[in-house]
Amino acid sequence: MTNNVKFKITDLDFYYSDFHALKNINMEIEEKLVTAFIGPSGCGKSTFLKTLNRMQDLVPGTRVDGKIELDGQDIYQKNYDVNLLRKKVGMVFQQPNPFPKSIYDNIAYGPRTHGIKDSKELDRIVEESLRGAAIWDEVKDKLDRRATDISGGQQQRICIARAIANQPEVLLMDEPTSALDPISTNKIEELVHELKDKYTIIIVTHNMQQAARISDKTAFFLTGDVVEFNDTEAIFSTPQDQRTNDYISGRFG
Ligand SMILES: Nc1ncnc2c1ncn2[C@@H]1O[C@H](COP(=O)(O)OP(=O)(O)OP(=O)(O)O)[C@@H](O)[C@H]1O
Ligand SMILES: [Mg+2]
Repeated sequence: MTNNVKFKITDLDFYYSDFHALKNINMEIEEKLVTAFIGPSGCGKSTFLKTLNRMQDLVPGTRVDGKIELDGQDIYQKNYDVNLLRKKVGMVFQQPNPFPKSIYDNIAYGPRTHGIKDSKELDRIVEESLRGAAIWDEVKDKLDRRATDISGGQQQRICIARAIANQPEVLLMDEPTSALDPISTNKIEELVHELKDKYTIIIVTHNMQQAARISDKTAFFLTGDVVEFNDTEAIFSTPQDQRTNDYISGRFG
């Protein structure tokens, strides 16, 4: 069974000034699966992730060629609503980056920006999002606490809850567990597993075991190219390209 295509990427090139960071990428990312991006440092994983919600729009000197369609619509079209795009495609970064505000206000921030003012409705969204990110029980009695004053693993789940509160369809996660201890990592991995019923998840990871554990599809990047993209099971058991094989068996990177 194949799922609907969520993102269709066609002949994508990306430049930081004259540095060619992504080279002719073609990929279809299916809905409600977990897709992992692996590859050595500097190969373009974060760059690619950020092209998917136009985070690079803010970086001077960058250029995108080719096409990225989300639900069949070209997101780089002139009249595409970037605010709507960022609502649909949420992002979680490597370092937990909660706002220096209360836990409650972190989660309510997005919904408020989108015009929700009713306090009962906000309470409901905050609770539901914190439950969704598996952190409600840990913080329900301290929603007034500053979100920067809790543990790193908790902060990262707050950031996931903050992303969920916007009711996204896609969650981009850039090495979301690399700053976390094994227990917090485990919680986030379990969470990813639960979230994929509802969301399309794309996760960058340097941890091969993690990619193998949590993803359905895996793309292997090398110097701006996608060398191989396939079912995770196939990538890790029978890689087709020697370079993929070398990477997953730890010979470089
Ligand atoms: N803002 C920028 N300006 C210029 N070059 C950049 C910028 N950001 C990244 N690069 C370059 O683009 C290439 C891809 O970087 P990117 O951050 O996408 O790699 P990555 O695969 O995410 O690496 P890592 O695993 O270390 O996070 C690298 O050569 C990097 O130096
Ligand atoms: Mg990166």
